[in-house]
Amino acid sequence: MKNIVLFGAPGAGKGTQAVLLKERYNLIHISTGEVFRYNIKKQTELGKLAKTYIDKTQLVPDEVTINMLIAEVERFPDANGFIFDGFPRTRSQAETLDKFLNERDQEINAMIILEVPEDILIKRILSRGLTSGRSNDQSEDKIKIRLQNYYDNTDILKDFYQKQNKYNGIDGVGTVEEIRERIQQIVDKF
Ligand code: AP5
Ligand code: MG
Repeated sequence: MKNIVLFGAPGAGKGTQAVLLKERYNLIHISTGEVFRYNIKKQTELGKLAKTYIDKTQLVPDEVTINMLIAEVERFPDANGFIFDGFPRTRSQAETLDKFLNERDQEINAMIILEVPEDILIKRILSRGLTSGRSNDQSEDKIKIRLQNYYDNTDILKDFYQKQNKYNGIDGVGTVEEIRERIQQIVDKF
């Protein structure tokens, strides 16, 4: 079983790499951002609630996000493992994920962080914003708020995973293929 937390700032390439990883290792990819966007599109109650936060470039509250994540994981009882993309994003989310997995005799095997300088992150997101339809991709001001949010709430989780010896930082600048190879070198070890 391989359970991977794919970590990094907005625009770091988590979604891009998760799609490649899930094919290679036969894992289930859960992106909390994508689940929220799907629910917003379908106008579900969860989607309507999440939209109020995402439109303000805020994190969706922990309780809502955690319940959704658990429901997603439980849809795949026979999974070979999971790639968590965009989750956990707060200490409470990280602790709950550990507890949830431990109760099932599982654990996070590795946290892999894609390290990308801020100017490149902004360029990538603005460029994606030309076609993504994601309102928060289209203004540099909103992107900067998202990045600040990441530094304030999420970046601290590096320490959480370092203490568990699960932290793996990789250079997230390069071609998609180069970065895929860097990630695979880590995943192949466990
Ligand atoms: P989410 O969807 O997770 O957004 P994010 O973290 O801001 O990250 P992105 O999806 O923007 O970036 P990515 O790292 O996936 O990069 P990508 O591969 O697309 O969350 C959206 C919102 O939902 C949050 O702001 C929050 O409000 C809410 N939310 C989600 N999870 C939550 C949680 N756990 N708790 C609370 N709230 C939550 O790549 C970016 C671009 O770069 C793409 O165009 C791509 O083609 C390009 N690219 C990728 N790799 C490369 C490369 N190597 N070279 C050049 N370009 C590249
Ligand atoms: Mg993404």
